[in-house]
Amino acid sequence: MADEFDTTEYTSRMRAMWGEGDYSGLAGRVAPAAAQLVEAVAPDPAERVLDLAAGTGNVAILVSARGTRVVAADLSPRMVEVGRARTEGLPVEWLEADAESLPLPDASVDAVLSSFGVIYAPRPDVALTQARRVLVPGGTLAFTAWRPHGFVGEMTSVMRRWLPTPPGIADELDWGREEVVAGWLAKAGFSDVTFRPGDLPWEFSSPAALTRFLVDHSPSHRAAQAALGEGAGEMFAAVEELAGPAGEPVRVEAGYAVVTAVA
Ligand SMILES: C[S@@+](CC[C@H](N)C(=O)[O-])C[C@H]1O[C@@H](n2cnc3c(N)ncnc32)[C@H](O)[C@@H]1O
Repeated sequence: MADEFDTTEYTSRMRAMWGEGDYSGLAGRVAPAAAQLVEAVAPDPAERVLDLAAGTGNVAILVSARGTRVVAADLSPRMVEVGRARTEGLPVEWLEADAESLPLPDASVDAVLSSFGVIYAPRPDVALTQARRVLVPGGTLAFTAWRPHGFVGEMTSVMRRWLPTPPGIADELDWGREEVVAGWLAKAGFSDVTFRPGDLPWEFSSPAALTRFLVDHSPSHRAAQAALGEGAGEMFAAVEELAGPAGEPVRVEAGYAVVTAVA
């Protein structure tokens, strides 16, 4: 990746993009992975946790249910607004923040958890350095990432035929490649890396119902539709073909990994 690449404009587009549409449906579909992530770390009430790229708080809600204090941070003002309302009455503090420049002191949290969130940071080395900076020595970083050969990974690759990743922006699917992410983590100073594959079985009444769901509830699919205009039809037809035969019930395995590492 070129060092001189300026991510400012990209990040500001992403700040607006992630606020598009109604994320609640997708938050529900990914919630079991958040539960697996929280179980993998099992924070206790004496600890302080950062839910990084928290969306509307799937992880924060589960962590606070254990009696643990949580800071939930997200790039998108809309996600923070919805998350704050969703966690009203719970011990969750919300921050609008970029994973690449966290407004938290050094060594201020015991665990950083991120469910399908930090993987969207354009520069993994910068985001991982920030995560390690805010962690106490010996603290835990844990995140979920889409595996390239699960349904979401394959769908992402299909969509890139129409909308390639901009130059200078990391491939979010690399976070789900064990050998790549282990190298990044080691370089950022983390140790004891674990990589556990999981699957989210997603069912829809048909391939067309799946793409309708994504346009309604996934900000990135909504943005893809807006960017391509009429051309989006061809891209979504390719996604539907990947999902299964037209008009028939669909069951896809959205393969992901739970990755943990020690600061
Ligand atoms: C797929 S959503 C996941 C949200 C939530 N963690 C969950 O499990 O439902 C991705 C989230 O990452 C956030 N995000 C993307 N890039 C980010 C960045 N650079 N810094 C912080 N948050 C970011 C988006 O705003 C969005 O809320």
